[in-house]
Amino acid sequence: MLEKLQNKRLVFVGDSIGRNQWESLLCMLSSAVPNKDSIYEVNGSPITKHKGFLVFMFKDYNCTVEYYRAPFLVLQSRPPPGSPEKIKTTLKLDQMDWNSKKWRDADVLIFNTGHWWNYEKTIRGGCYFQEGAEVKMEMKIEHAYRRSIETVIQWIHNEVNANKTQVFFRTFAPVHFRGGDWRTGGSCHLETLPELGTSLVPSETWEQVKMVSDVLSGYSNASASIGLDILNITHMTALRKDGHSSLYYLGSNSPAPLNRQDCSHWCLPGVPDTWNELLYALFLKHGTSHTFNSSIINNM
Ligand SMILES: *[C@@H]1O[C@H](CO)[C@@H](O)[C@H](O)[C@H]1NC(C)=O
Ligand SMILES: *[C@@H]1O[C@H](CO)[C@@H](O)[C@H](O)[C@H]1NC(C)=O
Ligand SMILES: *[C@@H]1O[C@H](CO)[C@@H](O)[C@H](O)[C@H]1NC(C)=O
Ligand SMILES: *[C@@H]1O[C@H](CO)[C@@H](O)[C@H](O)[C@H]1NC(C)=O
Ligand SMILES: *[C@@H]1O[C@H](CO)[C@@H](O)[C@H](O)[C@H]1NC(C)=O
Repeated sequence: MLEKLQNKRLVFVGDSIGRNQWESLLCMLSSAVPNKDSIYEVNGSPITKHKGFLVFMFKDYNCTVEYYRAPFLVLQSRPPPGSPEKIKTTLKLDQMDWNSKKWRDADVLIFNTGHWWNYEKTIRGGCYFQEGAEVKMEMKIEHAYRRSIETVIQWIHNEVNANKTQVFFRTFAPVHFRGGDWRTGGSCHLETLPELGTSLVPSETWEQVKMVSDVLSGYSNASASIGLDILNITHMTALRKDGHSSLYYLGSNSPAPLNRQDCSHWCLPGVPDTWNELLYALFLKHGTSHTFNSSIINNM
């Protein structure tokens, strides 16, 4: 993969589950590089719960593997002047995140979103939805989410050079809280086996996945012409209640209290490695049609 990424930029954009996948790919790629000093964050930033972005250089390949935090993909910023006090920020459903200029020219671009499209992460914190100049106080979260996906597709269509950039949309990674959620003592600690059914996965997950795939298939002409690939990991990931960080998100030596478990993010090595193996397969599939090299084929 590093050889194929020579002189290229691979960029993840999305929420912290996207960062989880980015970290997995960093680990997998770096295992193939003997000199670890040749891999570094270009600004010297540590890997933390980062607000902005992180860019890792694999120097021997002049390739970067980057993560940009944009949990909604669309722009979250100040409300219009004169808005009521309770509106602290708005999500501009018709505009991409500020950083989109930095991702636009990547060679491989992997989006994800979903974990922030809920009441707690929006309205409850005073974040409302805006289209044009108008704040839509009554707009339902599901509707806003759908509008944002439409904006992402439009943006890919208008701004991304399909000859250069391969775009992926990774589908939602289900959470597995038993007996509550992250605030109310939900648990996945001591889960040691996958579940063959998916009873722990909230029903909204499937509604969300359906909405996203409906929007994407509604643009199937466009998505074929812009080369958007779906990295469809929701079903396989739904089975893996045993793969979450649970008490160990602070490190393996300092378990968190039992009532504060992380059943959203994933241990590494672990489930996101498999997403990246699928990503690699799609990347290769695309690569064969776009960078056909007769010399390589003839030598096979
Ligand atoms: C490294 O890759 C970038 C593209 O990501 C390219 O612009 C630059 O010319 C490359 N540098 C070398 C030394 O090949
Ligand atoms: C992409 O490639 C096609 C076919 O080679 C070409 O017609 C088109 O102008 C290219 N588009 C861009 C944006 O470079
Ligand atoms: C994703 O894959 C599952 C099987 O793993 C399939 O049932 C579902 O229809 C797929 N969804 C999309 C949008 O391709
Ligand atoms: C989209 O696909 C339909 C058939 O599925 C076709 O009739 C239509 O012309 C296509 N539109 C574009 C813009 O390619
Ligand atoms: C095709 O592959 C050969 C052998 O690996 C290499 O020398 C050549 O530069 C490649 N050509 C292109 C256009 O990538």
